[in-house]
Amino acid sequence: REYKDQLIIDAGQKHFGAVACKSCGMIYTAANPEDEMQHVQHHQRYLERLRYVGWKKERVVAEYLDGKIILVLPDDPKYALKKVEELLELVDNELGYQQAALSNASRSKTYMFISNEKKIVGCLIAENIKQAFRVLSDPAEQKMSKTHELFEHQRAWYCSTKPEEAICGISRIWVFSLMRRKDIASRMVDTLRNTFTYGTCLSKNEIAMSDPTPDGKLFATSYCGT
Ligand code: ACO
Ligand code: ZN
Repeated sequence: REYKDQLIIDAGQKHFGAVACKSCGMIYTAANPEDEMQHVQHHQRYLERLRYVGWKKERVVAEYLDGKIILVLPDDPKYALKKVEELLELVDNELGYQQAALSNASRSKTYMFISNEKKIVGCLIAENIKQAFRVLSDPAEQKMSKTHELFEHQRAWYCSTKPEEAICGISRIWVFSLMRRKDIASRMVDTLRNTFTYGTCLSKNEIAMSDPTPDGKLFATSYCGT
């Protein structure tokens, strides 16, 4: 009996050679030279892109004990827009969006969560919208209402056919893999609601997420409390 338990524990601890890098988050097989090479290449490029050196004229829109949120607007200096572009490339790559240019790039607002270690650990890109189709999460609701399937980026969601009014669309939301479930996405959306439209706080119903991933859907469901 003891022997059997021991076997199970061993198998669990070894993880069959797969390790996750504690700074870039990449999962690779340490014993495999090819995998290790790929990791070294990915590691530096990735961390370079997430490095935030700090700008003289940064727009801080929220401050916390573990970091701050800065906002970049379309008319900001080139160096800021270049950083956003680089970050977007990384995020789109992770989300599996291929060359999915922003529908509204010249008017989108980018929020970046910067950790105390000067690393970009979260980003949110928002644009003005007029209407949105609510994603129906409940299978019963999907069957009952007239729905249409949305096939985009190989993901299918059942959406309501009835457009609902919305003001702000989240076209991207992303948090660094090793920093998830620390309320970073929630705090970025809170900040977005407080700062997107000058002088007002948007309600949860006035914001919508475009084409959410499974992670995005779980987050949105929890955030909106539905
Ligand atoms: N599984 C289950 N519940 C979740 C998950 C998850 N993966 N992520 C968030 N939630 C829920 C939880 O209830 C969580 O509260 P809890 O941690 O106390 O249980 C609550 O949402 C709040 O989560 P946050 O900590 O604020 O979210 P986080 O900072 O981890 O970021 C995000 C969520 C952005 C979806 C992150 O998982 C991510 O970057 N994923 C990969 C990229 C992605 O898929 N982004 C969405 C694309 S859709 C779009 O961009 C329009
Ligand atoms: Zn690494």
